[in-house]
Amino acid sequence: MSILLTGGSGKTAPRIASLLAAQNKPFLLGSRQGLDAISNGHPTVRFDLSDESSWEKLFKNTQITAVYMMEPRISQPWVLMNKFIDFANQNGVNRFVLCAGTSAAIGKDGMGRVWEHLIQAGVDYCVLRPSWFMENLIEPGLATTIGKLNKIFTATQTGNIPFISADDISEVAYHALTDEKSYNCDFRILGPENLTYDQIAETLSEVLGREIEHVKLDEANRIHGLVQAGLSNYFAGFLTRLEVLASEDFEKGTSNAVERMTGHPPKSFKTFAEENKDIWLSY
Ligand SMILES: NC(=O)c1ccc[n+]([C@@H]2O[C@H](COP(=O)([O-])OP(=O)(O)OC[C@H]3O[C@@H](n4cnc5c(N)ncnc54)[C@H](OP(=O)(O)O)[C@@H]3O)[C@@H](O)[C@H]2O)c1
Repeated sequence: MSILLTGGSGKTAPRIASLLAAQNKPFLLGSRQGLDAISNGHPTVRFDLSDESSWEKLFKNTQITAVYMMEPRISQPWVLMNKFIDFANQNGVNRFVLCAGTSAAIGKDGMGRVWEHLIQAGVDYCVLRPSWFMENLIEPGLATTIGKLNKIFTATQTGNIPFISADDISEVAYHALTDEKSYNCDFRILGPENLTYDQIAETLSEVLGREIEHVKLDEANRIHGLVQAGLSNYFAGFLTRLEVLASEDFEKGTSNAVERMTGHPPKSFKTFAEENKDIWLSY
């Protein structure tokens, strides 16, 4: 009896895996990269939402009881995700934890369609709706502009974002997957402070001991910059639209979900920056 964590090489699944391992709870990381995924020695299987034969193989060999899912970067992801939910449910899974985002709403295109399907299927579920991950700042793209150029380029202007650590999201996910009673609701998973990117740059300047600048771009220049950096037109437009929304304080909010579910407050950005400063300093 195992918990399947999809997105095995992503920001949350490996962290949830470590929490499960520490409690001797059986799990499998599912990744498109299969055994080659960076998994700190965690048991890993090949799982690709777009390849239904990988579903069959996985369920043939293991009894799965709960699944952690996230949005893959494919068009209309809810079509395959809902098909997979039905398949998994027919094969013994009755609890699903979905990592969505601020904009998800029941029935709305995107993760809202999956949320709606979970309710209609009558399974146990929990929808996590985190704000932006602090860990985005140590992903190769942003880590490079901070580490090499001392700059952060965004179209967020002076919008407020309650940045949240993947560590806290993962802890909440761990509870949603393993607590005896399923929550069957959604949780906004937010960090302790609403921060503008100017404030993020200020904290980074303090922690790194050199000036980091937030460069505010308009929509067209932001898309152009992302495409120049190698993103597809589609994905550059998608990310920029999220930033423009954030400039209008779409992300802004407060929530005590992390404290309620884990018993401790969410990590502050200052702590995150201190923990990760060597990454930016290594450039
Ligand atoms: N990053 C943020 O700031 C943020 C904010 C709010 C909400 N979210 C939500 O959090 C979740 C994770 O987002 P993220 O962008 O930060 O990504 P991430 O943690 O880096 O993980 C995304 C993972 O999705 C998996 N994946 C992609 N295509 C797949 C496919 N066809 N089949 C199976 N797995 C596939 C990949 O894992 P493998 O390559 O190992 O298969 C990838 O590592 C998403 O649902 C996103 O909407 C993110």
